[in-house]
Amino acid sequence: MSLLVAYFSWGGTTRIIAEQIQKTVGGDLFEIKTLDPYPKEYNPTTAVAKREQRSNARPALTAQVNGMDSYKTIFLGYPNWWGTIPMAIVTFLESYNFSGKLIIPFCTHGGSALGRSIADIKKLCPQSTIGEGLAIRNGTIDHAGNAITVWLRQPCLDQPK
Ligand SMILES: Cc1cc2nc3c(=O)[nH]c(=O)nc-3n(C[C@H](O)[C@H](O)[C@H](O)COP(=O)(O)O)c2cc1C
Repeated sequence: MSLLVAYFSWGGTTRIIAEQIQKTVGGDLFEIKTLDPYPKEYNPTTAVAKREQRSNARPALTAQVNGMDSYKTIFLGYPNWWGTIPMAIVTFLESYNFSGKLIIPFCTHGGSALGRSIADIKKLCPQSTIGEGLAIRNGTIDHAGNAITVWLRQPCLDQPK
């Protein structure tokens, strides 16, 4: 089974979790990056993100995944932004046909866990199976190993590899 771990990370926290997951499950790692970088400072970034969410923006991305068709399972990582997926994840999910694929979300957050993100991913990918999501609070990522291991035991990952 061909696995992809795709993630967006502004501050690097989600990247650390994505790398940890990829080391555990194998497969390929892909960083989702916007063509227009976000500000370096936190507050301006929250303002840009709010504006993007309000205007239902689709930030352009820098690169496409090669051979998305060959991946059956996609681990999808993102920071919780204003209660849900960053709009860059919306662009990503609209860029490919995920029908029949398994998408397993994971997020890092400052307290709102997965928020509305799972419902929003389901709306964008109605023909996909959406696995159980994992939420890791920022500041606790050094101790996330066990939570990741437990989360990877979910039934939809039991199919023969
Ligand atoms: C634009 C923006 C919006 C955010 N909104 C939320 C939120 O609604 N709920 C929450 O728990 N954390 C929120 N956070 C905190 C991030 O989810 C958290 O710090 C995350 O671990 C950052 O991941 P990263 O380092 O991969 O970007 C927000 C952060 C940013 C920059």
